[in-house]
Parts: sequence; C-alpha cells; structure tokens
Amino acid sequence: MTAPARSKASPLVIRTTNELQAWSDSCRQQGRTIAMVPTMGALHEGHLSLVDAAAKAADVVVVSIFVNPTQFGPGEDFDAYPRTETADLEKLKGHAVEVVFAPNAAQMYPDGFATSISVGGPSMGLETDFRPHFFSGVATVVAKLLLAARPHFAVFGEKDYQQLLVVRRMTRDLNIGTEIIGCPTLREADGLALSSRNAYLDAPARQKAARLPAVLKHVIVSLEAGAPVETALADGRAALERSGFEVDYLSLCDAATLGAPIPGHQRRLLVAARLGSTRLIDNMPVKAGD
Ligand code: PAF
Repeated sequence: MTAPARSKASPLVIRTTNELQAWSDSCRQQGRTIAMVPTMGALHEGHLSLVDAAAKAADVVVVSIFVNPTQFGPGEDFDAYPRTETADLEKLKGHAVEVVFAPNAAQMYPDGFATSISVGGPSMGLETDFRPHFFSGVATVVAKLLLAARPHFAVFGEKDYQQLLVVRRMTRDLNIGTEIIGCPTLREADGLALSSRNAYLDAPARQKAARLPAVLKHVIVSLEAGAPVETALADGRAALERSGFEVDYLSLCDAATLGAPIPGHQRRLLVAARLGSTRLIDNMPVKAGD
C-alpha cells in the first residue's frame, strides 16, 4: 500500500491542550505516528530542518509555538523575544505540518499552577550556573507539551546541546514514552549557528559573532592535537575576549553526560558568551582524548 500523500497546505492551528489531546488521540486511533517540534517561534531555517526531520520520523508533524515565561529569569529577554506567529505559519507552509499548537500563557499556566520539574544530571553546571531557573522552566513546559500531544517522537536541535540532554533525561526518567531525536546545528556561511536571538545583533556585532564558532574550531584543533585542556580553553577564552565577547563559560565536557571528560569517550566543547546585551551559545563535538 502506498503512503497517503502528505498535505502541504496551511497547518491547522490549535490553541487549547484539550483540543491537542483530542487530535493526538484521533491520530493514534488511526494508527498514525506523531512527531513534535517544540519551538518558541521566530522560526528560521534551523527550525525548518527540525520540522523536516520530524516529517521523516513520523506520519504527522505538530509544531508548538509558545514563548515560555518560566524559562526566562528576571532581567532576561522575555518581553523582547520576537513574536512572529503570522510569519511563522507562512514559513511552515510547504513543510508537511498538520498542526501548529499555539497556546497562550493562561492555557499553559492556568491560575494556581504549582508544579515544576527539576532535572539533575545533565542540568548541572554550564547554563544552570548563569540561568538557574532555565532548565526547570524548559523541563516543565516540554513535559506539558509532550503529555498533551503524546508524540511518538520529539525533535530538538543540537544547538541547545545541554537542553537536548536534559529533555532526553527527563522523558526517560518520567516514562513519557516519546523518543527524543537530536538534529545537527545549521550554520550561516560564516559559521554562526542559526538562532532566533541573532536578530538582536546589529551589523558590527553580527560580524564579530562569527568569531564564536571560529574560536571553537581552533580550540578543537588544539585539543585534538593533544594540547593540555586548560591551556586550550584559556587560549580560546582569551581569543573571544579579544574579539569583544564576555565569556560565561567555555567548557570541555563528556558528550553523553556533560560531566568531566572521560578518557576514550566522545567530548563536547560548549560555550556561552555575550556580545553587548546579546547572549550566544554554541557547541561542537570533540574526538575522544586520553
Ligand atoms: O529551544 C526552545 O526553543 C525552547 O527552550 C523550548 C524547547 C521550545 C521550550 O520552551
């Protein structure tokens, strides 16, 4: 039997968790597999690559668009975060998305909402040292989204590598029953990872931003050539500071756990650094060392 042609028309927009659950139940009753792509909107090619990966993994795709207040701390960019729903829906046309779930904050966090999920393990350190509220906000909203849409798969970008590991840990620990798929980071021609926050960069900052992936690559070449880790990281940090970045962290971690690197295991180099008021994060794989 040939698979039914996928509809590439405008997606159906659902705004309540009850309707999303009913849609998911009907897909499951029809034997259709579901893949979800959770987003905060301001969609770019990176998101669209996640949508395309979702369409390969399952019969139907649901994209969520929700700027989640609980993952922003005081003084962060919650109010300024770009909200571009009409343009987002337009971009999703032609990408085989059946449903867009776009709730408001009262739908996700009704009066009296009192639950928060705290994940240990891969949440420890890195982003948590600078944004202590972040992963409980992410874990709580992602759990709500997965429990409402009950997808067989959910797709996340490796651009937010720590987030990917935290979400994977949380779904396994809570038996949510969704397989988490990680997809490679998409980059601009000069290497800058695609991110909705790149929109905050003015022209000179945008030019400087390309130093971030360039320095990561340079550090990786040194590490893989056997340079001592402390020296390679200190050189990388100094190179970023010379380019005008304020560095939150530049760390080499075990790729699977984000703990200290383990001889013979894959490693990951992760960075968060600020250019003016814009905070950028990035990461790249590093071959196993001794
Ligand atoms: O990566 C994001 O855009 C967000 O952290 C997510 C996973 C959609 C949760 O709000």
